[in-house]
Amino acid sequence: MRNLNQDNITQAVIARLAGTPDPRLKQVLTSLVQHLHAFAREVKLTEAEWAYGIDFLTRVGHTCTDQRQEFILLSDTLGLSMLTVAFNNQKPAGCTEATVFGPFHVEGAPEVPHGADVANGAPGQPCEVSGHVRGPGGEAVAGAVIDVWQADADGLYDVQREGLDHAQGRAVLRSGADGGFHFKTVVAEPYPIPDDGPVGEMLKATKRHPWRPAHLHFRIQAPGYQTLVTHVFRNGDPYLDSDAVFGVRSSLLADWVQQPDGRITLDFDFVLAPAVTASTTTGKPVATQSA
Ligand code: BEZ
Ligand code: FE
Repeated sequence: MRNLNQDNITQAVIARLAGTPDPRLKQVLTSLVQHLHAFAREVKLTEAEWAYGIDFLTRVGHTCTDQRQEFILLSDTLGLSMLTVAFNNQKPAGCTEATVFGPFHVEGAPEVPHGADVANGAPGQPCEVSGHVRGPGGEAVAGAVIDVWQADADGLYDVQREGLDHAQGRAVLRSGADGGFHFKTVVAEPYPIPDDGPVGEMLKATKRHPWRPAHLHFRIQAPGYQTLVTHVFRNGDPYLDSDAVFGVRSSLLADWVQQPDGRITLDFDFVLAPAVTASTTTGKPVATQSA
C-alpha cells in the first residue's frame, strides 16, 4: 500500500497485523496501534514532541540497571501498574486487597524463623510484627510462604545501598500450623521513589511529589490460594491520599501501636482468595476451594 495519509494509515498498519498467528498478540497489538494513533491525533503530536518522547523513553531504558527499574517506575507513576493490579485482582468480599509489587522485591531472600529480626541492621525504630494467614472461611493457612520487604528509616531498600552484601529489611517466613507468623523489624517510614532520573523529571514537570506513604510489602503464596501481593500502610501517614504510585487501599491501613512497656507492635491478618482454575465445561475461570 502506498500514499498513506492521516485518514488511512491506522487501518493499513492494522491490516499488516492480520497474519499474526497468536490471537492474543494480534488483539493486543491491534488495540495498541489504534490507541497510539488516536492519542497522536487527539493531541496533534508535533514532530518535536514525538522526538522528545523517543528521547525520554530512551533515557528511561538507559536508567535501568540490575538495581533500578525505571520502566516500572514510569508505569507506577502513570497509574498503569495499579490499574493492571486492580482489574486482575478482583477478590471475593473479605479477602485482602492487592496493591502494586514495586521494583524492590528480590527473589530468594533468606528464610528466617518466627521471631527473627528481619531488619538485620537496617536503621529505624524497632518494632514487632505479627499476624495470621487465613482462607476466606477463616481457616488457618499453614505453611504459606510469606515474603516481606521494606525500606528503612532512611527511606532506602537494601538493594539501594551500594556495597551492602546481605539482606536488610527483607526475608521469607512460613506461617505456622495456626496460620500465624511474627517477626521483628524497624518501623516503616514514608520515602520518595527514586526521582533522579527521567521519571523524576516528569514528576517535577507536573508539580508532583515522589513520596510513598509508609508501608510494609508482603507476597503470600500458598497452594490452593491466589498469590497475594500487597502492602500494610501506616495509619495517619501524610501521603496516604497522594501516594506517588496510586497504591493505597483503606482496607490495608493499620496502626503501629505503642505498648505500655514501650514496644511498638503491628498486628495484621491476611485473607487469601481461593485459586482460580478454568472450568472444564465452560472454559471460564472458577474459584476453587483450597486444595
Ligand atoms: C515500592 O513500594 O517499593 C515502590 C512501588 C512503586 C514504585 C517505587 C517503589
Ligand atoms: Fe515500598
